[in-house]
Amino acid sequence: MTQAAIKNPHYEKIGGEEGVRQLVELFYEKMDTLPEVRTIRNMHAQDLTGAKRKLFRFLSGWLGGPALYTPHGQPPRLGQKHAPFPIGHAERDQWLLCMQLAMAELQLEPSLQQELMASFTRLATSLMNHQHTHAGKRLNEQVVLLEYPFKS
Ligand code: HEM
Repeated sequence: MTQAAIKNPHYEKIGGEEGVRQLVELFYEKMDTLPEVRTIRNMHAQDLTGAKRKLFRFLSGWLGGPALYTPHGQPPRLGQKHAPFPIGHAERDQWLLCMQLAMAELQLEPSLQQELMASFTRLATSLMNHQHTHAGKRLNEQVVLLEYPFKS
């Protein structure tokens, strides 16, 4: 058992480094293919390699494994890093949908999925910086978005 597993069981339960890698792959596969998450897909670069690497590093530490994203204990400053992207309810829910489907496909224990989903929901909610549920209004002109086709 690794040091990380003793500190926090989530990393080990998810399958360690390989499990986190698979989760990130599946997460971005959902983002890249599901039409209902097109709004957040369009916030990302065409090539998702960098985004995958960053999310993998972040989740590794967040789940209790090696702190690859902030190796010197710095705060991750996710709020600041997401500030250029208008994140409202729709965007948050699209992100969470990708994660929920990725965890289900990875066949994580249902109780672990529930527990992680609650934490992801809290974190994603804390990143909300925009009250509109569609992409009609932009905070940042550099962010190019298509019209959100699934207005509720
Ligand atoms: C709430 C909806 C969210 C949206 C729409 C969103 C969108 C994005 C976008 C567009 C990027 C830029 C990707 C890149 O640099 O290539 C990004 C970066 C990132 N996101 Fe999110 N994100 C969301 C939630 C989250 C959550 C909940 C987490 C953590 C569990 C997360 C972790 C990260 C990380 C670690 C980065 C890399 C930041 C950097 O170092 O530049 N995001 N996100």
